[in-house]
Amino acid sequence: MKKKIVKAILPAAGLGTRFLPATKASPKEMLPIVDKPMIQYAIEESEKCGIEQFIIITGKNKRSIEDHFDSAFELEENLKQKGKKKLLNEINSLKHLDFAYIRQGKALGLAHAIMRARPFVKDESFAVLLSDDIIDPDESLLQDMMNIYYDYECPVIALERVPRAEIHRYGVIDGARESDKLYRINGLVEKPDTEGAPSDLAIIGRYILTPDIFDVFEDMSPGKGGEYQLTDALNMIIQHRPLYGYVFEGKRYDAGDKLGFLKATVELALKSDHISEGFREFIIDISKKLMKD
Ligand code: G1P
Repeated sequence: MKKKIVKAILPAAGLGTRFLPATKASPKEMLPIVDKPMIQYAIEESEKCGIEQFIIITGKNKRSIEDHFDSAFELEENLKQKGKKKLLNEINSLKHLDFAYIRQGKALGLAHAIMRARPFVKDESFAVLLSDDIIDPDESLLQDMMNIYYDYECPVIALERVPRAEIHRYGVIDGARESDKLYRINGLVEKPDTEGAPSDLAIIGRYILTPDIFDVFEDMSPGKGGEYQLTDALNMIIQHRPLYGYVFEGKRYDAGDKLGFLKATVELALKSDHISEGFREFIIDISKKLMKD
């Protein structure tokens, strides 16, 4: 019986410069999309796949992330007294999960952030979720990736076909198609220019990694932007074991900058039980006005 993946690492130590001034004193990960902070979408996505232990890599000004996933005694008592059961259940929905927080110290890149979790992960395989990339809650990307990992016993990363003009924002792979949506990866480049990109298959923020990646991190040098890049570590790992890429064709919201964040908010609000009806009417109304202009 293969050991189940029960741990996820969520890097959350970035400075959030693309959201300034909102992120001057509060974490980007806590910006609300409809009624939940951005990072909660990734936690709920993982929880659906049986992940129970979360290691969040934090930095300065990130305390509110810890408070958010902690119990809130006074608030709970208050809601109990007022009989607000639904709200109480909502704020307690993730209470059964374990959270650990590690400070990254210096923001030296994604590989460096993940490396900080080594003492908690030890020799287990684990998931990495970048919370800027919100996967539609109706999709099963992470579970599909886990199933590939259980079948092949190899690390798996999520890929998406992106327009050539956007390729410079991503890690990009060179690979050979193994089956329908599965590629065996032969090489990876972090944020290439359009001409230098080996394909249009970009890495999106979901990874299933095996613990040998930690040894690779030890031998790394800084890459693009002077940072320790996970993409470079993966390039090293394929020297001694297969790495697979799973092409995601479902809905992803790129909430990593202001425009993407607004788009994510609109799309997820349209799907939200609480406000979708009224919000849909508002969007139709405003679209009509815009069409007239
Ligand atoms: C990171 C990775 C990149 C990947 C991207 C996905 O970049 O380094 O390879 O394509 O996440 O969101 P970042 O967006 O943190 O600069």
